[in-house]
Amino acid sequence: MDSRRDFLKNASLTSLAVGLGIPSEAAVNSGPDESIKFPKDFLFGVSTSAYQIEGGWNADGKGESIWDRWSHIPDNVKVLGDVACDHYRLYKQDIELLKRLNVNSYRFSISWTRIFPDGFGEANLKGVAFYKEILDLAKKHGVKPVVTLNHWDLPQKLQNIGGWANRELATHFSNYAKFCFSTFGNDVDFWGTHNEPWVVAFMGYFVGTHPPGIKDISTALLATHHLLLGHGMAVKAYRELNLKGKIGITLDYSYNIAETEKQEDLDAAKRLNDKHHPWFADPILLGKYPEMIWNWYKSKGIVMPEIKEGDMKIISTPIDYLGLNYYQTDKVKYNPDGWWPYETNTLKREYGKAKNFGMEPEGLYSILKDLDKRYHRIPIIITENGYNDDHDNVDFNGEVVDNKRIEYIFAHIKVCKKAIDDGVNLQGYTVWTLMDSYEWGDWSRLGLVHTDFHTLKRTIKKSGYWYAKGIKNGFSLGK
Ligand code: FCB
Repeated sequence: MDSRRDFLKNASLTSLAVGLGIPSEAAVNSGPDESIKFPKDFLFGVSTSAYQIEGGWNADGKGESIWDRWSHIPDNVKVLGDVACDHYRLYKQDIELLKRLNVNSYRFSISWTRIFPDGFGEANLKGVAFYKEILDLAKKHGVKPVVTLNHWDLPQKLQNIGGWANRELATHFSNYAKFCFSTFGNDVDFWGTHNEPWVVAFMGYFVGTHPPGIKDISTALLATHHLLLGHGMAVKAYRELNLKGKIGITLDYSYNIAETEKQEDLDAAKRLNDKHHPWFADPILLGKYPEMIWNWYKSKGIVMPEIKEGDMKIISTPIDYLGLNYYQTDKVKYNPDGWWPYETNTLKREYGKAKNFGMEPEGLYSILKDLDKRYHRIPIIITENGYNDDHDNVDFNGEVVDNKRIEYIFAHIKVCKKAIDDGVNLQGYTVWTLMDSYEWGDWSRLGLVHTDFHTLKRTIKKSGYWYAKGIKNGFSLGK
C-alpha cells in the first residue's frame, strides 16, 4: 500500500509541471461527404465524476467520503483515488479541453463532502468556490453544465449513521441539493440527482464490492427506497425555487439477450429486461414499484422496505429528463440455482469486474424504444456511453490512435440518429469520459483524452479530434 501512496504522491508533484499534449489535427482523416447530422440544439457532451478525476481528497476542508474510507482499507482497491487526475488543481486545462472537443455540454458531479464535509451543517466555502469557478469557465466556453449531485461519494459521516439504509439520508440529501440549487442557481442547465442508484444500492449493500460493502438484500432494497425518496424530495425542492434549468436522474441500463434459443433462456432475458430495469424508473415515472418484481422479492421471504404514506407521490414528482447510461448488452441464461438476479446468470461479465465493454449498439436502440414507450415519450439524454481500451498509448508521433473507440462511438451515434428518426424523444448524447481516469479501485482508459497516469499529462486522442469534428460537421467514419 505504501508504494501505491508514494507513486501517487510523486504523480501529483510532477503534475504541476505538465501541460496539454500537442497532437496534430492530421491524426483525423477526413471522411466522405455523407455524414450524420443532428438537430441544432442536440446536446453533445462528455462526462466525468468528482471522485474519478478530482483528487485533493482532503484538500481545503473537504470531508471524508465513503470512497475515501473504502480505498484506504488495505486490499480493497488496486490504486488509491487520492490524487486521481488531480483535476482539483488542473481544472483550468481540463475545461480548456472541452473547448477543443467542441462539446456543448459537460456532465460532472459535485463532491458532497467538498461542500458539506460532514454531509450537512456549515458549508465549506472553498469547495463552493471551486465549483463556481468550473461553472464560470464552462459558461465562458459556451458549454452547458449537466451537474450530478450524487455520483456515489457519500459523506462518511452519513455512512456512520447507516448510509442510505437510514431514512434520514433522504432529508440530508435534499438539503444538500437545495443548497446547491440556490448557490449555483441559474448557472446550471441540467441537474441530475443520483448517478446509477442501482449501483449504489446493490453493489454497496447487497453485492458488497462497493462501499459500504454490506451484503444484505433487504438493506439494499431499503437503500433503494431512500435513494428514491431523496431524489423526489430534491426535485420538489428544485421546483419550489423556480429556477430555469431542468432536473432529472441517471439510471444504468444494459440490455439482456438469451444465450440460446431455449425458452427458459429467452424467459430469463425477458425477466431481466422487464423486471430489473423498471425498479428505479417505474417509481419515478409511474409512481409505483413494479409489482412483479416486488412480489418476486416477497416470494423469496425478503423483508421489504416500509413505504410511508405520501412517499410514492414525492418520489414521482415530475422530472424533465431521464438520463441513460448504456455500455453493453449481456448474454444471459436461466440458472435455477442462482436466485438473484431473478434466476438468471449473466455470462459475459461478473458484477464488479473492470469494465471491458463489448460493442452492441442494437441494445441501446432496444432500450431507447422501450423507455420511450413505457414512459410516454419522456425526454432522454444519454449521460454515459463509452469504450475502454487499456492498450491506448501515446505513440512516437505523440498521437493516440484509438480507432476502436471511434467505431464504438460512431455505431452508438448512428443508433441515436435512428432512434430520433423513429420518434424517440432523445435530446443528448454524452461520451464517458473526458479523460482516462480513476475507475473505482483502478485506472481505466475510456477517455477521449489520454491521461499519463505517472505524469498526469493529457493528450487528446484521435477519437477526441474525431468527435470534435463530428459535432461541427456531422459524423462519419472516414478513411
Ligand atoms: C458507470 C459509472 C461511471 C464509470 C463508468 C465506466 O457505471 O457511472 O462512473 O465508472 O461506468
